Amino acid sequence: MKLVSSASIPLNGRTYLPGDKSLSHRAALFASLADGRSRIRNFLAAGVTRVMLRSLGQLGVNWSLENGTLTIEGRGLHGYLPPPNVLDCGNSATTMRLLTGALAVSGVPATLDGTPGLRLRPMRRMAEPLGLMGVPIQLSDGGGAPLTLAARPDGRLLQAIDYTLPVASAQVKSAVLLAALAAGGTTVLREPGQSRDHTERMLTGMGVRLATWKEKGQVVTALDPCGKLSPLNVSLPGDLSSAAFLVVAALIVPGSEITLEGVGLNPTRTGLIDALSAMGADIRVVERGLQCGEPVGDLTVRSSRLEAGQVRGDQVVRMIDEFPIFAVAAACARGRTVVADAGELRYKESDRIAALCGELRRIGVEAEETADGFIIHGGRRPCGGPVDPHGDHRMAMSLAVAGLVAENPVSIPRAEAVDESFPGFVATLRSLGANLKEDG
Ligand code: S3P
Repeated sequence: MKLVSSASIPLNGRTYLPGDKSLSHRAALFASLADGRSRIRNFLAAGVTRVMLRSLGQLGVNWSLENGTLTIEGRGLHGYLPPPNVLDCGNSATTMRLLTGALAVSGVPATLDGTPGLRLRPMRRMAEPLGLMGVPIQLSDGGGAPLTLAARPDGRLLQAIDYTLPVASAQVKSAVLLAALAAGGTTVLREPGQSRDHTERMLTGMGVRLATWKEKGQVVTALDPCGKLSPLNVSLPGDLSSAAFLVVAALIVPGSEITLEGVGLNPTRTGLIDALSAMGADIRVVERGLQCGEPVGDLTVRSSRLEAGQVRGDQVVRMIDEFPIFAVAAACARGRTVVADAGELRYKESDRIAALCGELRRIGVEAEETADGFIIHGGRRPCGGPVDPHGDHRMAMSLAVAGLVAENPVSIPRAEAVDESFPGFVATLRSLGANLKEDG
């Protein structure tokens, strides 16, 4: 599918967002390990969560998804069946890493694989701590998928570890914390920064004892093993990472005002709102309490005159998925915006430093790549033209938003990539007034 995005009239209206991707992954997976039936409302039905559900089916987990509610029959911590086939994780690193943690608890043998893009994602950072816990994982020569776990003899406990992660990564942290449920003692995990803490919140809600604190500049999490997880009965907050595209669209299209309801506002995820607010964005937040153990609220966004900003250090992890769309905001902001300490962006669905700067330059944005980030000289209208989304859903959506203020249309081939995380992207933006057309 080709998506063509053109200069737009002001965006106006209110909308809900689909369920959060990170929470949907966790809810499905943790529920599959629980004792009993879970119900998860506002579950994200998208490419990345479908591969998770399909893999769970292969492990003997019964589930059904109707009208946005996932019902899942938990098999307990050690109840998975050995899968008949390779578990296909598609293009989803979250599926691959979190599922590996769950397989480590359950002890069944399995091989996980995915798209050529997923095979390039680094898995050694997860295989190393799991290996120390007594879960040897075979990787490709390049340190990625396919990835194979051997069977663990019934009743054998895993080794509790005290381990420092080389990078702040919620996926790796989650895999280790899941494995730690089946360990012989308390596992301690140290991270160089605070990655998203959805796993900690959700597992706590399911009866797991864990604690998090700061120590010598690190974020430390200690988790006690536990025999069983309680099932979930939750409604998931809207995805702030999907909301991000609408937020920036409303900021840069003159005369816009939109309200996004029921969006997850976990402070480990709100770096983009802070960065844009510091650049002069008019974003009002009304907090609505907790949902699924996560803060939620409504965001009202009005188009704003943005000034250049800076993102570095701890803030990078708090907006790790938002740099493609942040770069579009920076392109519309007056002056030189600098992103640093963001080398991890090279290991996402694409090399999000090289791909982003390359594609922005194609549509007339002055974008400079650095080793660990990028510099955008903003304030001029993008000229538009054809781009390549590099098979990356967030690149496709960000470039589509750029088209709404460009002199000429931005055309994005293979834009079906957006269905990976936000299948309603085109319809939602259109319902707010955006000039987006699907072509073929
Ligand atoms: C995620 C963690 C982040 C993020 C990804 C989702 C998660 O990845 O980029 O989209 O759900 O835990 P890393 O853990 O690799 O930083």
